[in-house]
Amino acid sequence: TFGSAIIQRNPLFSTLNHDDIIYFEKTLGVKNVIQDDEELETANTDWMHKFKGSSKLMLLPENTDQLSQILKHCNSRHLAVVPQGGNTGLVGGSVPVFDEVIINTRRMNNIISFDEVSGVLVCEAGCILENLITFLDQKGFIMPLDLGAKGSCQIGGNVSTNAGGLRLVRYGSLHGTVLGLEAVLANGDVIDMLGTLRKDNTGYDLKHLFIGSEGSLGIITKVSILTPPKLSSVNIAFLACQDYISCQKLLFQAKRKLGEILSAFEFLDAQAMNLVLNHLDTLRNPLPSSIYNFYVLIETTGSNESNDKEKLEGFLVEAMESGLVSDGAIAQDSNQSASFWNIREGIPEALQKAGAVYKYDLSIPVEKLYDLVEEMRIRLGGKANVVGYGHLGDGNLHLNVSAPQYDDDILGEIEPFVYEWTSKHHGSISAEHGLGLMKAEKIYYSKSTGTVQMMASIKKLLDPKGILNPYKVIPQLLLST
Ligand code: FAD
Ligand code: MLT
Ligand code: ZN
Repeated sequence: TFGSAIIQRNPLFSTLNHDDIIYFEKTLGVKNVIQDDEELETANTDWMHKFKGSSKLMLLPENTDQLSQILKHCNSRHLAVVPQGGNTGLVGGSVPVFDEVIINTRRMNNIISFDEVSGVLVCEAGCILENLITFLDQKGFIMPLDLGAKGSCQIGGNVSTNAGGLRLVRYGSLHGTVLGLEAVLANGDVIDMLGTLRKDNTGYDLKHLFIGSEGSLGIITKVSILTPPKLSSVNIAFLACQDYISCQKLLFQAKRKLGEILSAFEFLDAQAMNLVLNHLDTLRNPLPSSIYNFYVLIETTGSNESNDKEKLEGFLVEAMESGLVSDGAIAQDSNQSASFWNIREGIPEALQKAGAVYKYDLSIPVEKLYDLVEEMRIRLGGKANVVGYGHLGDGNLHLNVSAPQYDDDILGEIEPFVYEWTSKHHGSISAEHGLGLMKAEKIYYSKSTGTVQMMASIKKLLDPKGILNPYKVIPQLLLST
């Protein structure tokens, strides 16, 4: 169970037998058919330690052909499957709910090609994001996405969740930068959509169905992605604001005054800063002279060092003179840049260390975004620590409630209020993390009935037996009828 939703195992799914194991061992090699308790414990448990399955088997295919064969077998045997990448997902999508077979793509980690003229990278789904960043750095390019989980998450997982992250404000979503992909359907059919063109209007652009479908329609095996050139001047400023309206006005100004060089606009409140300072020993507040209510991290990326610096400094002087910014620092070297980023990127880890976390990932119009945090604080009184941070430049609030341990009273204060509030303000209950198991049944807060029905029809068309990531993304009722 999770919260109030009680999920039953679908009795139409079979359970593993000896012949299945023999088939998988023959197809993948014995060492890539994992039945070891310790390894399974890790693969069954999500990053937050909140969702836990009881799978008895993890399969590690090495290429598309092997993956196709094992999926075909699972489909014919009615064995349910969970696609898994780096297992950094935050909505319970990457772990089994019951005994689903885990198919992890970590061995599919080859870079297939890189075109230094167009910047198009083609690689296998299991490539770890940070490895791709390092590879591209040597070629003078960057990935169009970056996120705190880069050391573990895989590009296939990123595409399957349509991950947003720290650079979306500049480079847009993966729906824009992913040019093509290859996916294997539940029945083992391999669908080649691995185009490398920026423009291709030959009919339906079906790759978009797989971007953000969280493993519910197929397993992504290869990705082609447009990567921007690495520009020579990157500057990072860490700023303090006394109130939320100042953060909001600062964003408005940054979009106009920094314009095309703006590459990140992130915010955190004092509660998030305190968590990081209390739980991550090596980190220090870059602005220690006073206590501020909000902090903003602004990054600029451009091609003219002196112009870019002058632009950023001019912007900051104006912001300080007008009172929007109370204090600030510009990183003087790469160590200081990293220390600024570590504060922002360390928040999820600090929350984990602080105890139980109720995590919400919301799109809300920027003017209203922090009202929700304040209302939540009033609702919860002193019962829990309410923390707000996120990708302010994209209107994406990460609202987290931190408590010593999980407590149904606290959950009852948060839900359904948080979803109703977001829906009332025309927001989305998942800006970037997806629905997974956590929010499959909540989808109607953000999507119309007709849209959800169409999603269910597409699911039934591509995966008629429903073996791919069951109980996730789409409400159960629609798939069982
Ligand atoms: P997993 O967690 O393994 O899987 C995620 C989902 O995708 C599951 O539903 C799984 O079934 C499916 N899946 C995985 N691989 C495939 C595949 N090859 N084919 C089909 N389906 C597949 N997310 C953001 O959007 N922005 C952030 O800034 C961000 N920061 C994070 C910071 C931290 C510290 C952590 C722990 C997580 C963060 N996340 C963020 C969430 C998460 O990292 C991303 O969603 C990431 O893209 C998941 O990649 P993964 O390889 O770990 O996928
Ligand atoms: C982030 O922006 O830090 C991630 O999305 C993770 C989180 O929300 O905790
Ligand atoms: Zn985020």
